[in-house]
Amino acid sequence: MEFFIDTGDLNEIKTAYSWGFVDGVTTNPSLVAKTGKNQKELIKEISQIVDGPISAEVIALDAKGMIAEGEDLATIHKNVVIKLPMTKDGMIACKHFSGKGIKTNVTLVFSANQALLAAKNGATYVSPFVGRLDDVGQTGMDLIGEIRQIFNNYGFETKILAASLRHSQHIKECAMVGADTATIPFKVIEGLFNHPLTKSGLDQFMADHAKSQK
Ligand code: G3P
Repeated sequence: MEFFIDTGDLNEIKTAYSWGFVDGVTTNPSLVAKTGKNQKELIKEISQIVDGPISAEVIALDAKGMIAEGEDLATIHKNVVIKLPMTKDGMIACKHFSGKGIKTNVTLVFSANQALLAAKNGATYVSPFVGRLDDVGQTGMDLIGEIRQIFNNYGFETKILAASLRHSQHIKECAMVGADTATIPFKVIEGLFNHPLTKSGLDQFMADHAKSQK
């Protein structure tokens, strides 16, 4: 399963990438706004840290504007993936980019039918938002399973990029259900290392070693 980090924070990206298992980065307009940086400048900086897919989201809401913006973003680096909203205009833009071999990530996906539309239009990734469905009382992980079944039924190459992940249980469940990729906030990635028995076991090893040196 690919791990992407879901942030625009360069320090978080550098730290997580140093751990060895992060494969790429996703951003969105809210995450970019938090940095106070220009989107193109930020994506360029990220491309100099991470050698992997970097999702950059268009701001335009019309297909013509999305295409113009996306083609500009694609010039930043070969690893840039154009993030498009799950709308009619987003689908027109998705079809345009998939026809030109430019990678896309269709975002704000909340239903299996939306994911199916994106796959039919050749999206490289679809981003179902698990946490936001949980937030409104649904079981977001069920959507990942539905999309997995549909994509397997028809051999779609579109990758399921599970997004809006809130805790380590989400990561395990994504892997169990068969998401291709998980995009994960820094704090959640950091939490994946932790288990109390690992810490207590290591502390005991060190204590026993220290005793044996006396
Ligand atoms: O960046 C896309 C998605 O991961 C956003 O998640 O936490 O804003 O629901 P969140």
